[in-house]
Order: sequence, then structure tokens, then C-alpha cells
Amino acid sequence: MAQISGFAAMALDSLNPSQLAFIHSLPKAELHAHLNGSIPISELQQMANEYSQTSDNLASDLVREGIAKLKRGVALDEIYDFFNLFPAIYALTSNPANLRRATRAVLEQFLDGDRPQCTYLELRSTPRETAEMSKLDYVQAVLDEVERYPASRASLIVSLDRRMTTRAAQECVEIAHQLKAEGRRVVGVDLCGDPQAGDMGTFEQQFHDAKEAGLGITLHIAETPANPAEEILQLLSYAPDRLGHATFLDDEGKAIVRGNKACIEICLSSNLLCKTVAKLDDHHIRYYLQHDHPIAICTDDTLPFRTSLPGEYALLLASPPLGLGLSEPEQRDSEFAELLDEGDIPFVARLLLHSVPIKAKIR
Ligand code: IMP
Ligand code: ZN
Repeated sequence: MAQISGFAAMALDSLNPSQLAFIHSLPKAELHAHLNGSIPISELQQMANEYSQTSDNLASDLVREGIAKLKRGVALDEIYDFFNLFPAIYALTSNPANLRRATRAVLEQFLDGDRPQCTYLELRSTPRETAEMSKLDYVQAVLDEVERYPASRASLIVSLDRRMTTRAAQECVEIAHQLKAEGRRVVGVDLCGDPQAGDMGTFEQQFHDAKEAGLGITLHIAETPANPAEEILQLLSYAPDRLGHATFLDDEGKAIVRGNKACIEICLSSNLLCKTVAKLDDHHIRYYLQHDHPIAICTDDTLPFRTSLPGEYALLLASPPLGLGLSEPEQRDSEFAELLDEGDIPFVARLLLHSVPIKAKIR
């Protein structure tokens, strides 16, 4: 089990053995995990040590400081502090060998061991062009690792960053399309990055093309109160299959989402630590549970948020104030478990783009 601390760890510690057994027995799907935000700290530390032997002092000091900060545990004053954590990680995963190594460690963290965190992982990552690889090399390297697992266990979503130029975003969608057409395991396209950056109108064509290519669409949306209603409506007009966070949807946005049943990817620790939600009791998960709307419980970035998928489920079950105090679902979605065994990736991915592994109920 991954080393975790903070909200999720406290919730897990408070559970009784039967609740813990229940969480571990659920066929969980991790549908919102960013590759570079989910690398185990031990792997990064090793890479940082190696990096210091080949890089100049200034660069290796910056990386060392960044990794030491992640190791201590980050305290974020607001969501924007979060994005400053990535340059140190990116310095380490900027060549194909280290990117593969990081991807392998992330996959092992979620899928291997006596008690894997999840049954199925839909990993996402933003293609980066560096001195040592093109965006295509990047996605191929990640896919090589993802495809070491059966199709029923792992697949990839290609992320577009809100800061990307239209051309870069277009290139990413073309790569996703091309690789999917070659039979590689790309199942969808995501939009992520600094929630204040970019003009979302520039992505219209890209999401249209992605949809035409049969790729699923998931969008980080309404992550902060500063995201304007027009932007949210514009993103919703791209007909996403799933939504990341969706914390600050207004009534019009909520009506659209409830109408088309787009699944909401819920990341409880992430929202608490980025301070977009003040306390669990205020979390928008309550609204979606009350309306029996599809949700998926996810980690977002296990490294900075020091969480795990069982830890996020513990936040559902633990008694308040440590958790939401939900009852154990009376029924598992047994259909879901059967489908995961089938190994039919397009179908499983499609199902997961619309569905949730469990139906939790408010007590
Ligand atoms: P990568 O795409 O594998 O490089 O994963 C890290 C990247 O994911 C970050 O640089 C951000 O752009 C993005 N990301 C991670 N967590 C969040 C989030 O909560 N909101 C928006 N973007 C995020
Ligand atoms: Zn995210």
C-alpha cells in the first residue's frame, strides 16, 4: 500500500476491519490520475540522485529542492501553488528512459501487489516535446508501458494543457487519433492545466476532431470560483463524456450536466488540499449523490496530495468530520465487475467513460 498522509490517511485509520475489507473488495476504477503527479517519491528521489551526477549545480539544486519539498509534504495556500511543483518532476521525466521508468512505477503503484489499488487504471498525461523526444515519442513511450498490462486493466488518455497553442493541441489530438487507429491503447482526450490559463474557444476544433475519431472526452471544468460561466458553457458544448472536478458549476451548468449524465470525476483530497473546497461537508459530491448522478472516485495526483484510491474511498465511509459517513452500498454494480473481466477494451473504456464502479448512498 502506498505511503499516504493527511485527510485520506486519517480517514483510513478510523475505519474498522470490515469497512477496510469492503473498500479493498470493491472493483475500483481509477479514471483521473495524472502520470507526472502520481510518481512514487522513492522513484523520483532515485532519479534526482542520478540527475545530480550529470547536470550542472544550479539545475540539480532546483530539482533537489523540488523533490525535497514533495517528500516533506506540500502545504498549498491556493490551487495556483500546485502548478509550481511540476518543473522539478518534469526535469526528471524529460527523456524516454526516465519517462518509461516513471510510467512503470505509476502503473505498479496502482495495479500490482497483493492488494492493488484498483482493478482498472485510465492514466492520463500531457505529451511534452523535449530535447530528447517528440510528442509522438512521449506518447509511444507511455503506451509501451501501459500496454504491458491487459486491456482490461490499463489504458491512456492524452491530456491537452489549457496553455497549449491551437497547433500544439491539434498535434496532440492527431497523435491520439493516429495511435488509436494503429490499435494502440489511447481511449480519450483530456483538458487540464492552470484553470485560469488559456482561451477555451481555441479548443473547439480539437474536441470536435477527437470525438469524430471515436475518442472519449473528459474536461477539467469549473475548478475554481474564478472560472467564468461562459467558459463553462463553452466547454460543456464540446459534449464531454466526463468532467474533472466540476466544483463550481452554476444552476445552468448543473442542469446541462444532469441532463446528459456526464460522469463527474471526484477528487476529494485534491480539492481539500488545493482549498477549492473548505471542508468535506461542503463538497459537491453531496449534490451529485443526492441526485443519483454518475460519479467516479479518483486520486488526481497521489504524489503531492499523498493519497491513494482506497484512501479516497475511506473519505466516503469514515464518520464525520473525518469522512462523509456514507453507508456501504447495499449493492455492487456486478455488471461492472463482469465487464472488467471481459478484456474488451473499447467497450470497457466506453462503459467507464459513462459509468461508476459503485453506487454509494447517503445514510
Ligand atoms: P502530466 O500531464 O502527466 O504531465 O501530469 C501533470 C500535469 O497534469 C500538470 O502539469 C497539470 O497540467 C495537470 N494537472 C494535474 N492535476 C491537475 C488539476 O487538479 N487540475 C488541472 N490540471 C492538473
Ligand atoms: Zn486533474
